[in-house]
Amino acid sequence: MNVLAVENVVAGYSVGDQILKGVDFVVKPREIVCIVGPNGAGKSTLLKTIAGLLRPSQGRILLADKSIGGMKPPDISKFGIAFVPQEHNVFGNMTVYENLEMGGYVARDHIRARAEAAMDHFPVLRQKRRQLARTLSGGQRQLLAVAMALMVDPELILLDEPTAGLSPVAATELFGEIIRLRDVGKAIGLVEQNARDAMAISDRTYVLVDGRNNVEGPSHQLLADKEISRKFLGG
Ligand SMILES: Nc1ncnc2c1ncn2[C@@H]1O[C@H](COP(=O)(O)OP(=O)(O)OP(=O)(O)O)[C@@H](O)[C@H]1O
Ligand SMILES: [Mg+2]
Repeated sequence: MNVLAVENVVAGYSVGDQILKGVDFVVKPREIVCIVGPNGAGKSTLLKTIAGLLRPSQGRILLADKSIGGMKPPDISKFGIAFVPQEHNVFGNMTVYENLEMGGYVARDHIRARAEAAMDHFPVLRQKRRQLARTLSGGQRQLLAVAMALMVDPELILLDEPTAGLSPVAATELFGEIIRLRDVGKAIGLVEQNARDAMAISDRTYVLVDGRNNVEGPSHQLLADKEISRKFLGG
């Protein structure tokens, strides 16, 4: 069974606004799936719609076999989808540990155990647990944002440009962490400008253009395709 199936979804920012013009998107268990495409194609809009921040006006969104289209973000999060937005994804004036607690806010039962597990996964966060989040480096802040997402023990993690603004070394490290999350059983949806590097760690890729599916397939096939490279991956 699929972890996530988006079927023919139409969505936008106001009534009648069609930014997504009938998008299909599937994530299977233990897959890393990339979404790439030009600026303004609707990649972030797709993640926001899956996370419940926007309501689809048409189409279906299924988590396993349960329809989640139109549910509120906290409920979607409780059901197992964690969304890490591109910006403003941590609370700068709270400590690292308090941020982890905020990440677990909708599933308060196991907060302490989950925070420990998150800090086991990212030891640098344990080391800095009492520090304010705004004092972290960009790469450490992105790790914290991902760790906050783990606090709901999600099936599926949606990441919107997690390596934006990171040095090449920090980006490579973060991609390594994403692979580790897949290896512990998470499914991952990944939007990236750093398309080639993201595709290289992923199983499948969707290219979105102007709110529609353009090309999709195994990432290694798309990477090897000269025309796709030229059109979407900068040569
Ligand atoms: N809050 C908003 N209100 C109204 N329109 C928006 C809003 N956010 C995005 N849009 C519009 O939706 C379209 C798709 O934007 P989106 O952010 O999904 O693109 P993207 O593929 O993520 O682009 P990028 O690569 O630049 O991040 C754009 O035309 C944009 O202007
Ligand atoms: Mg975007």
